[in-house]
Amino acid sequence: MKIIRAKDYADMSRKAANIISAQVIMKPNCVLGLATGGTPVGAYAQLVDWYNKGDIDFSEVTTVNLDEYRGLPKEHPESYWSFMHRNLFDKVNIDPAKINLPDGTNPDAEDACAKYNQIIHAVGGIDLQLLGIGHDGHIGFNEPGEAFELETHCVDLTPETIEANKRFFDGNVDLVPKQAYTMGIKTIMQARKVLMVANGAGKAEIIKKAFFGPVTPEVPASILQMHPDFTLVGDEEALSLI
Ligand code: GLP
Repeated sequence: MKIIRAKDYADMSRKAANIISAQVIMKPNCVLGLATGGTPVGAYAQLVDWYNKGDIDFSEVTTVNLDEYRGLPKEHPESYWSFMHRNLFDKVNIDPAKINLPDGTNPDAEDACAKYNQIIHAVGGIDLQLLGIGHDGHIGFNEPGEAFELETHCVDLTPETIEANKRFFDGNVDLVPKQAYTMGIKTIMQARKVLMVANGAGKAEIIKKAFFGPVTPEVPASILQMHPDFTLVGDEEALSLI
């Protein structure tokens, strides 16, 4: 486990974008596992900026996103499909045919998850997986108590996650989808590199628990302690307790 200390959010975003950009330069046809949430937005903006300057080329890159809300139309502004297009895909030269997210509009959970697993296997697995972290230690939407050996599956979001995500749904918990399709911990652990971004004092406690406490399904991110190539880039506040 490598921990990189960044001064602030902008610095964290730049450092994370540097690592992603290095991956794309070293292997132009790499598979990037991408994440949503507020934390990676700055890293995506930095990548877009470098793309505009001609420093990075996404034409051969394949992407697989971590997760998607179940039952939300793709065009809904808060679907992860929309989020990714808004923050990255619409702004760089990525081939739309190489963009993959779980199909939240498929009501058959088993089918949607099986198809997504097939896609991940067919592209040869993930070269670099970007992650944020939930306040309860969730990664993707793998909530506390999830078995470590799962691939893509359907999850019930915890009340805490629904509460944390209501800011994206007019502050109304009733509008937040209650389920999601998410890559499992097994899929994430099979990524050849894992990069987590974390910022703000609100994440300090969980960062300490996840990476300096016991490895347990109660703190899903803690399994990353066992990953052979895991890097955490955090700002001073998020790393203040370690
Ligand atoms: C959601 C996403 C996670 C993300 C988490 C934290 O639950 N499914 O992938 O890590 O939010 O989000 P934020 O970065 O906004 O704190």
